[in-house]
Amino acid sequence: MKTTHNIVIKTIDRLELKISREEYKKMGDNTFGTKFKITSFGESHGKVIGVVIDGTPAGLKFDIDYIQKELDKRKPGQSKFTTTRKEQDKVEVLSGIFNNKTTGAPICLIIKNQDVDSSNYEKYKNLLRPSHIDYVMQQKFGDFADYRGSGRFSGRITAGFVMAGAIAKQVLSRFNISILAYTRSIGDAEDTKNYALENFEQLFQLREKSPVRNLDPDASKQMEKEIDLVMKKDDSIGGTIRCFIYNVPPGIGGPIFNGLESNISKGIFSIPAIKGIEFGAGFRASRMKGSEHNDPWIIKNGKIKTSKNDSGGIIGGISTGMPIVFTVAVKPTPSIGLIQKTVNIETMAEEEIKIEGRNDPCIVPRAIVIVESIAAIVVLDYLLIEGKIPSVLGS
Ligand SMILES: Cc1cc2nc3c(=O)[nH]c(=O)nc-3n(C[C@H](O)[C@H](O)[C@H](O)COP(=O)(O)O)c2cc1C
Repeated sequence: MKTTHNIVIKTIDRLELKISREEYKKMGDNTFGTKFKITSFGESHGKVIGVVIDGTPAGLKFDIDYIQKELDKRKPGQSKFTTTRKEQDKVEVLSGIFNNKTTGAPICLIIKNQDVDSSNYEKYKNLLRPSHIDYVMQQKFGDFADYRGSGRFSGRITAGFVMAGAIAKQVLSRFNISILAYTRSIGDAEDTKNYALENFEQLFQLREKSPVRNLDPDASKQMEKEIDLVMKKDDSIGGTIRCFIYNVPPGIGGPIFNGLESNISKGIFSIPAIKGIEFGAGFRASRMKGSEHNDPWIIKNGKIKTSKNDSGGIIGGISTGMPIVFTVAVKPTPSIGLIQKTVNIETMAEEEIKIEGRNDPCIVPRAIVIVESIAAIVVLDYLLIEGKIPSVLGS
């Protein structure tokens, strides 16, 4: 129901809410960042998923193979632990590249949706999936939202984050900044090792060998077992991801509302299914004494460092020059095959739901590269704002 200037939203309790078009447009915020700014677009069952990246320095060699490799780490079907939706996720470049270099103009990258099957979503249209977005999406957008494949709320949206992250990572690597995330735990299987951060390449290779993207072959096997177990029971499982950002110079960030922790957290919480984040010792710090938690300052190779890193490389919202370390909690995939209680929004009766369809039994392995991408986007944004990286790169 549209009027000339207003959009009328029918809410589920049949109240009509009139809002102006301008207000309606503001309802969805799909842009993130200040100088390195990304705008996410597309829906799970629409034509494409994409991203517009504004603020990439000019003169960066455009390495499309690298972007594709990053996307491949996120795409479905890499192992038996992912959804059976079959997508190529092949990156296409629409703008911003000339003579194989970035021009400084907005870069638009897309992937096409190919394996779209909306039948299950039509079947369950009125049944609210527990801990999924159906109810809140209705409350917010009324009958307008595209519910097919969870529309804008789908994990598929994060392909755009990965494409932007791949560009950010390439800029950062020119300044010797690298990022590595890995699966820290799945269910009760936890990798409690502390990794020597200097061995970046070696850790990277180890991670690529593990189907669950962990660094320790024994822990990896345990994690695989945890997923196997829930798959047999039509259930799902959560886990944690740890991320290191190396070589961020000291003094980056800001106090109060502009802290590194604040902005990393904002980006990380834009990834669907993330329910927690901690920096350094995080929640463990609440059980420690000052004498245990404090990181002693030392001189190493003529530079001020700390002998340990429970602060996670950030104090007062500003980088210390130690690796930035954070850990995120990923919830179990909400869509499961087990019978669950729910409500039919059309009849307003309590019913049961058994979700059939193509769902990840565990989101963690596919989310690793997404977490890295968000970290890269945030750090590059800071470095551009603070003038540590120029807007035109030398060759
Ligand atoms: C890579 C990725 C894959 C996902 N796959 C699924 C899935 O197969 N089934 C599902 O129900 N949710 C999946 N999700 C999670 C939902 O999108 C998410 O739980 C939902 O949008 C609600 O948001 P919230 O969990 O952040 O509150 C996935 C998320 C990500 C990041």
